[in-house]
Amino acid sequence: MERTRVAIVGGGPAGYVAARRLGQLGVEAVLVERGELGGTCLNEGCIPTKALYAATSPLGHREAFARMGISLSPQVDAARLRTWLSEVVGALRGGVGKLLAQAGVDVVSGEATLVGPGRLRVRAPTGEEGIAADAVVLATGSTPIELPGLPFDGERVWSSTDALLLPRVPDRLLVIGGGVIGLELGTVYRRLGSAVVVVELLDRLLPGVGVSRRGEALLRRALAAQGIELRLGARAEGLTADGVKIRTANGTEEVPADAILVAVGRRPNVDGLGVEAVGARVERGFVVTDDGFAAAPGLYAIGDVRGGWMLAHKASHEGLLVAERIAAPSAPPAGEAAPVIPQAIFTQPEVALVGVPIDEATAQGLRVGRFPLAALGRAWAQGEIGGHVQVAADAAGKVVGAEFVGPHASDLVAEATLAIQAGLTVRALAETVHAHPTFPEGLWEAALALLGRPLHSG
Ligand code: NAI
Repeated sequence: MERTRVAIVGGGPAGYVAARRLGQLGVEAVLVERGELGGTCLNEGCIPTKALYAATSPLGHREAFARMGISLSPQVDAARLRTWLSEVVGALRGGVGKLLAQAGVDVVSGEATLVGPGRLRVRAPTGEEGIAADAVVLATGSTPIELPGLPFDGERVWSSTDALLLPRVPDRLLVIGGGVIGLELGTVYRRLGSAVVVVELLDRLLPGVGVSRRGEALLRRALAAQGIELRLGARAEGLTADGVKIRTANGTEEVPADAILVAVGRRPNVDGLGVEAVGARVERGFVVTDDGFAAAPGLYAIGDVRGGWMLAHKASHEGLLVAERIAAPSAPPAGEAAPVIPQAIFTQPEVALVGVPIDEATAQGLRVGRFPLAALGRAWAQGEIGGHVQVAADAAGKVVGAEFVGPHASDLVAEATLAIQAGLTVRALAETVHAHPTFPEGLWEAALALLGRPLHSG
């Protein structure tokens, strides 16, 4: 039996970050991973999606360029694109392995189960071994949810993992779920040439995200203009010979499809972990922890398996915090205040938000400033004026929320995140000189609008 101070189960953005930080802090650590280092995000999530998003970008901007007098007729070599995706993922995965090795972390391949407090059994094709540790960190992530009547088969019914392997570009792709994954993947397959229909149960897109009604309407219009058909208020109920049966307020109908992507959420990976055996509680599938990530004495859980936002950066943040806590248990907790977690959604246009959702801020009577990209010089120069920036402030004038819809929204949200985290006021944003002509001027203009001093907007 191998003995170590800390055993981490799962090598995704939560687990590998915790392991590296523990190693850097001089704490002996073993990381157990049943698949590939990097987890869902690196291997079958954030990274390949963004690689596909970037690769297909010229296809998504053909019309904007045509208006400028530049005509593009891109040819897609799907085999080369697949190879490129795996090169990107492979390079980053190799990097994670090196970072862990540099920090002195021992990586064990296999599937771990808790068999008692601080004791793991690890099964690998080569055999079984035991690990005894003073502390165990669970960072096992999550898995796409299947719909009854629509089991994943990788051929006709895809999970996001299947879709990211780019098995083919179907003539007709039906996406079930107008959430983050459905819209990101629907966008890239549309760019590649599929006729895409998105079926969403609720009456709006991205219902779980907190984007404002106005922001959602901007996105809906843009997706429709790209030729993505949106079926809101429609429940996918099962497979038919030629597609999927959906139920709407008007009854049921069949939507034909050559491939079906089911993107209706993810569930935490808890099965077979043995958490109950060591006294940890599981609620609605998630491992229950206290604010310091402790699930039971000597047992911690971080990332998707613990719940909250299922986001890689939230998982990594928890990885850093848990490592510091384990390395110095008596030190005061590092992240006393709840962290400010931005969200970034890679549709066209991108959507990003942080803090109090804008519609919630309005409902609470907080002040909100809005600036449409149609009034931004840089947006005109780039041919992309569909979008906006919104910012909300509390009674003391502090920035509490922001929403970006438009080009580079995923990057722009960083300034607002810092403003909220640092307790900055909207006045501070308004007094900061922003380079012209750039997209960050949108936040500055929204701040000016909130203060009743709009410059380029009405
Ligand atoms: P989601 O929860 O964002 O969206 C699922 C959607 O499916 C919901 O809108 C729901 O109403 C709909 N739905 C459920 N059952 C349905 C049915 N039978 N018929 C039609 N619609 C149905 O889940 P998603 O997109 O799978 O993402 C999973 C998680 O991964 C989320 O927590 C998300 O935040 C995270 N993620 C975040 C990314 C980002 O921030 N860029 C990228 C990828 C994933």
